[in-house]
Amino acid sequence: MLKTFSAAFVLLVASLVLSAQPNAASFDAVAKVFRLDGGGSSYRFGVNPRGELQQLYWGGRLAVADGFRQAEPKPEWASFDSSYNNTPQEYAGWGAGLFTEPALKVTFADGNRDLVLHYESHTAVANGFDVVMKDISRKIYVTLHYKMDPESGILARSATIENREAEPVTVEQAAAAAWALPPDHYTLNYLTGRWAGEWTLTQEPVYPGARVIESRRGSTGHQANPWFAIQAGDPNEEHGAVWFGALGWSGSWRITVEQDQLDQVRVTGGFNPFDFGYVLHPGERLETPVFYGGYSADGLGGASRLLQHYELAHILPRTAATAGEKYPRPRPVIYNSWEATEFNVNEAGQMVLAEKAAALGIDRFVMDDGWFGQRKDDHAGLGDWYVNKEKFPHGLKPLIDKVHSLGMDFGLWVEPEMVNPDSDLYRKHPDWVLNFPGRPRSEGRNQLVLNLARPDVRAYVYGFLDKLLTENQITFLKWDYNRNWSEPGWDQLSPAEQKRVYVAYTQNLYSILAELRQKHPNVEIESCSGGGGRVDLGILRYVDEVWPSDNTDPFDRLTIQDGFTYAYTPQIMMAWVTDSPHWLNKRTTSLEYRMLSSMQGSLGIGANIAKWSPEEMATAKRLIAAYHQVQPTIVQGELYRLISPRNGSEFSATESVRADKGQAVMFAFIHSTQEGLGFPILKLKGLDPTAQYELSPMEGKASVETPAVASGAWWMNHGLEMDASFRGDFQAAAFRLDRK
Ligand code: DGJ
Repeated sequence: MLKTFSAAFVLLVASLVLSAQPNAASFDAVAKVFRLDGGGSSYRFGVNPRGELQQLYWGGRLAVADGFRQAEPKPEWASFDSSYNNTPQEYAGWGAGLFTEPALKVTFADGNRDLVLHYESHTAVANGFDVVMKDISRKIYVTLHYKMDPESGILARSATIENREAEPVTVEQAAAAAWALPPDHYTLNYLTGRWAGEWTLTQEPVYPGARVIESRRGSTGHQANPWFAIQAGDPNEEHGAVWFGALGWSGSWRITVEQDQLDQVRVTGGFNPFDFGYVLHPGERLETPVFYGGYSADGLGGASRLLQHYELAHILPRTAATAGEKYPRPRPVIYNSWEATEFNVNEAGQMVLAEKAAALGIDRFVMDDGWFGQRKDDHAGLGDWYVNKEKFPHGLKPLIDKVHSLGMDFGLWVEPEMVNPDSDLYRKHPDWVLNFPGRPRSEGRNQLVLNLARPDVRAYVYGFLDKLLTENQITFLKWDYNRNWSEPGWDQLSPAEQKRVYVAYTQNLYSILAELRQKHPNVEIESCSGGGGRVDLGILRYVDEVWPSDNTDPFDRLTIQDGFTYAYTPQIMMAWVTDSPHWLNKRTTSLEYRMLSSMQGSLGIGANIAKWSPEEMATAKRLIAAYHQVQPTIVQGELYRLISPRNGSEFSATESVRADKGQAVMFAFIHSTQEGLGFPILKLKGLDPTAQYELSPMEGKASVETPAVASGAWWMNHGLEMDASFRGDFQAAAFRLDRK
């Protein structure tokens, strides 16, 4: 009886609270204003009297009663700056003298290049709208898709462009969305890098003019990542307004951040217009990628926590085993053979590694490059996806069976989109690669890029992968991609149509991944591109994890991992422990330091464990067991970057707090102490101030004064103090707090 009453009461209160909240998406028909609300943010746009879709507001959540009048276009500033330019449009066509970045630019069959899009109609969809726009005279229709996540307030935006003219139209530029920010002084944050040096957080003021972040490479790229965060004022980790966005596209992309002559800031992103030209035939549609945008009042840390949770809840795929679960499961702890054996893999050698891996408590054994075709080094074999009989005389089965008998599952490396000229595949199908007939074919790592846009290539790639997964008990594919495009011709198509490759290639990549996952619903996939060259919210719809960098130096990794987490969840951030001295920097570090550096993400071991001493085996085994206990908190919790390793910092520290605030895990690293100064006291964050938490070291010691148990308030205000012995070069410590 009491139970029934309290359930009814809860329902009543819940419905009262709900009725006080606006719907996540609503339309004010009088003012012609669209309202989207979710989490701590609101987004408003409307139809102005000219018929343009005009952005009205993007920022912290507004009150229910806050209304907006109909959008009023900004006036002409001078004869040089028209109202069309000055008005922040949701999706501006290039026409009517637009000088800011257009969302859409087309050429019609008769040579007309003027495009002015006006509102036509809209339909409500779950948590959003589809808003149809049309050119003022031509039958070019653009449907803008909006979907607001009620929990995080992250808004997913994209566009569908449709040609209902009688003649083809060439799309020369197509954004997924344009975002507008009010005039202010801003800092732009974006991620740059290179092979073995990805994920540098680059910070600079937003200046008048445009800052272009892009890839022209046919894939996402190591050099820049399609993510931005713009903070009002100076950068701050835990305070201040931040607008952020991430583009879900693994082909050539561009994000333009511009401050116009009236100090208005716009961010426009989508397909890279460089060398772009998509012929839309009558009746055809072009879907843009999705551009996700969000707002946080809690600095860059708050912004990244929102995005990380959104990725876990709404982007990353599920396997059959985790279908319907809120988050995907934490990654198995893996062993990978690459740095131990490189191309020199064989049955006996891999079995030895597998035995040692199992003894460490590893969950998944992954054999990397070298198992197929005539693959002795990187000069031959790519494209020939049959098992090399010299290395594996009885096929893969004996090794896979052995791995299973040791209690691990089995994963395999593939690089499906590439071919070595020295391969049976290339000898048979030299026309299958990206090329312009009669022109040189530039190689990278002795390989060429298969034109995945071609139906026959797509069929071949899907076919061999499906066969591999059907005939072998493989639960994981490491999908590598080790060069960028050159000579991107597609000579099956007419010259006018060939640039379609920029869209069709990536669409086929996604569709192969989707089809494989559907047919093999328990197989998991990693996106690797010589490290972090293909990480974005597009590929993350189809893969469970990524390889952030070929640079496995544990000290370099601290900065790489710090940068990575501004845009992506630690869940997908694979981090291997490899041998010391490290091959790249020749740096010597302790196994404890290497383990803790990798334990900040999804842990793996990539060292030559066949040579490890009993002491090394024991240390790694102990720390893998400790990691297993707290892994969900580290990879799915709330991440606080307490001390940044950037800019030559001698210290760094992170804290991850479980969603229910019941557990926290802290990592602390010293590069090199100077003048005897010890590690700063770590003021923890995100705990329940009234709860009692017990401190347990995973590695290292707290100061003798540190209580074993104290309140959340104590850990956050007094802080966690390291033992005085915690000093020197390349030192690491890790602790956990558990609510009593
Ligand atoms: C590049 C990857 O990033 C490495 O981890 C390894 O898989 C090699 N390719 C293999 O060729």
